Amino acid sequence: MESVKIGSVGLGRLGYEHAKNLAASIPGCVLHAICNVDTSRLRAVAEELGVPHTYTDFAAMCADPELDGIVIVSPSFLHVEQIKIAMEHGKHVFCEKPLGTNVAQCKEAEKVVEAHPELVFQLGFMRRFDPSYAEAKRRVDAGEIGKVVLVRSCTQDPRSTIESTLKFLPHSGGQFLDMCVHDLDLIRWFTGSNIRNVWAIGGVFEFDLCRELHDTDNAAAMVQCENGAMGFLFANRTHAAGCNVETEIVGTHGTLRIAPVGARNLLQVVDEHGARQEYYPDFMSRWHTAFLAEMQAFTDHIRTGTHPADLTVYDGTAVSEAAYRCKESFETGKMLPIR
Ligand code: NAI
Repeated sequence: MESVKIGSVGLGRLGYEHAKNLAASIPGCVLHAICNVDTSRLRAVAEELGVPHTYTDFAAMCADPELDGIVIVSPSFLHVEQIKIAMEHGKHVFCEKPLGTNVAQCKEAEKVVEAHPELVFQLGFMRRFDPSYAEAKRRVDAGEIGKVVLVRSCTQDPRSTIESTLKFLPHSGGQFLDMCVHDLDLIRWFTGSNIRNVWAIGGVFEFDLCRELHDTDNAAAMVQCENGAMGFLFANRTHAAGCNVETEIVGTHGTLRIAPVGARNLLQVVDEHGARQEYYPDFMSRWHTAFLAEMQAFTDHIRTGTHPADLTVYDGTAVSEAAYRCKESFETGKMLPIR
């Protein structure tokens, strides 16, 4: 196969970013079509990126025989229905996290993927493609820090982008499902274990919309893995400085830490406020390299007829299930087992 032809759905905060990458920065890939319900946005992005085919109907895009793969960056509640449509049209699928907004949807996605073993299926847990996280995983797997005892993961989104986040919140599935899935994925990935129990707490410290949605704007959870390892996560939508993600992996013979501060480069600014390093302003800039690498991996899998080795639909279900249990634990105040 010479070039992989991709159709991408959703042109919002992240969909536009993926579309730009697919159109210009992924060797061996052509962004052949885009789909969005908002026609003026669709036309503007097609013109800007030079995308030849546009659709407002997702199934119509999937029926295009020239397309090899579909990238799904639509609202989370649409993911599973779109995975089904795409795979039933014989298309390889990359789907953003979370896999679905409830466990039943995730189980449905598993059946669809199982029915199409010839098609690539990849999930958008892009932190795994970030060079620092990939290097930490390599060292953990090589036994450099011994047995993993604890994974501590903290995700802080900036207040400066809250306007776009508030628009997205009603269809996000809530903070545990929307943000904490990344941390839960890291806990499973680094410990090499499924999650057995979760205990979650949180609250609304600022944004009334979160209260109206019975959601949190700051949340934390303790996690016990099946192999005995421990996890702790914290997610925050009210961070002052920018996008900050920190992860610490504590082993019996060493500790690995990634991004103890969210510094975007080595520059130090010294002025009347003191000396400081600048943060990544948003998640797009923090994860730019990882977003590119995951799309490169997806298109390479299509070209070479391979499948992601350890990033499967079952990871999507396991992480989503743990996130739903965190939400229930927050609501009931109880530590809950994963069913
Ligand atoms: P958004 O709300 O900004 O954009 C959604 C887009 O989908 C809009 O362009 C909307 O017009 C379009 N859309 C809605 N219904 C549609 C339909 N039926 N057919 C075609 N287009 C439709 O959302 P955002 O922030 O871009 O998130 C999209 C997905 O990406 C979500 O599942 C989210 O969880 C995920 N995401 C993942 C991130 C990561 O760190 N990996 C970061 C941000 C989002």
